[in-house]
Amino acid sequence: MKTILVTGGAGYIGSHTCVELLNENYNVIVVDNLCNSCEESLKRVERITGKNIKFYKIDCCKKRLLEKVFVENKIDAIIHFAGLKAVGESVKMPLEYYQNNLISTLNIIDLMRKHDVKSLVFSSSATVYGDPKSVPIYEDFDLKVTNPYGRTKLMLEDVLRDFANVNKDFNIALLRYFNPIGAHPSGLIGEDPNGIPNNLMPYITQVAIGKREFLGIFGNDYNTPDGTGVRDYVHVCDLARGHVLALKKLFTNSGLVTYNLGTGKGSSVLDVLKGMEKACGFEIKYKILERRPGDIAQCYASCDKAYKELGFKAQYSLEDMCRDSWNWQKNNPNGYKTKNKILVK
Ligand code: NAD
Ligand code: UD1
Repeated sequence: MKTILVTGGAGYIGSHTCVELLNENYNVIVVDNLCNSCEESLKRVERITGKNIKFYKIDCCKKRLLEKVFVENKIDAIIHFAGLKAVGESVKMPLEYYQNNLISTLNIIDLMRKHDVKSLVFSSSATVYGDPKSVPIYEDFDLKVTNPYGRTKLMLEDVLRDFANVNKDFNIALLRYFNPIGAHPSGLIGEDPNGIPNNLMPYITQVAIGKREFLGIFGNDYNTPDGTGVRDYVHVCDLARGHVLALKKLFTNSGLVTYNLGTGKGSSVLDVLKGMEKACGFEIKYKILERRPGDIAQCYASCDKAYKELGFKAQYSLEDMCRDSWNWQKNNPNGYKTKNKILVK
């Protein structure tokens, strides 16, 4: 049985990936400092799967502590989710973002080399494409970023490409996620943002549950079919499955590989709103506001490469994503409740 170290495994995408890994009979070790999550998510993963997770509450920036995990366990591969991810916050606190995201990842790579762990899946983002020249977006499009968060992802992709160039026996998957939404169909785990959500789906579900008065739609004058922004929303369980498929690819000694993970289909803000109204069975209030600075009109993936090389194809529809997001929000109106509200350390 192979052992996978999942950093940031208590978070939104990490917890769903732990479910997939356990269901596929991998041994799972999680390292998380719980700066944006809580241990309850892991307890719920154990409830869903009936299997145990070995958990270390460690900051990946603290190399000496992190090394303990490599010494105590025989690790076959790492999925590295740990990182800070809020674009607006990264503009206000760039140093914290560079410190946390860069140092944690450099530590992971160095410890992999020292302890002979050859396979790594890295969480990248569609944000590395900036404002793409056209849609759908292919993996070989130009890369350019506009904020510190995005820059950490692009810098780390560069670090990993440079590292892989001279370390041919290492296998690395750069996965560029589009817009993950939805939750595990059990309603036990899901997205649990701190404070006022920045992203569309958690904002809509909080309006639906009565925590916020209305959804502000950031612009309806884009060059898109209904004027609102178009994105590639992908169910978090599909994304989680994509990680398991990427791991299997790495175990064939693939070298460095890069994949978009999305659905290949664009949906507008109004499409998502309508989907959520259908899931809830009532109308959700909204107002049209100004465009949000930095937003782009359209962003959706070509997932042909992930399909051809990994066999990845998203299975959940927008309707499924809305149903599962609502199911999670309705069953957990205050999320996991006990989150630490510290940024790092
Ligand atoms: P999340 O905040 O829910 O999960 C990240 C986890 O990492 C949290 O549990 C947090 O406590 C932990 N963490 C952060 N810094 C750490 C450190 N130094 N040491 C140990 N643990 C640390 O976020 P998520 O949505 O699950 O995202 C996971 C990864 O995917 C991130 O790297 C993010 O940048 C990337 N990503 C997310 C999205 C998205 O829309 N959610 C899109 C593209 C890429
Ligand atoms: C955001 C991040 C991006 C990251 C991506 C996936 C920003 C500027 N960009 O992008 O770096 O890769 O998440 O995590 O934060 N919208 C509203 N009202 C809201 C919220 C959003 O109308 O209250 C609209 C946006 O204008 C956009 C769409 O909904 O058209 C999706 O927004 P969001 O969920 O924030 O994701 P992205 O903008 O794709």
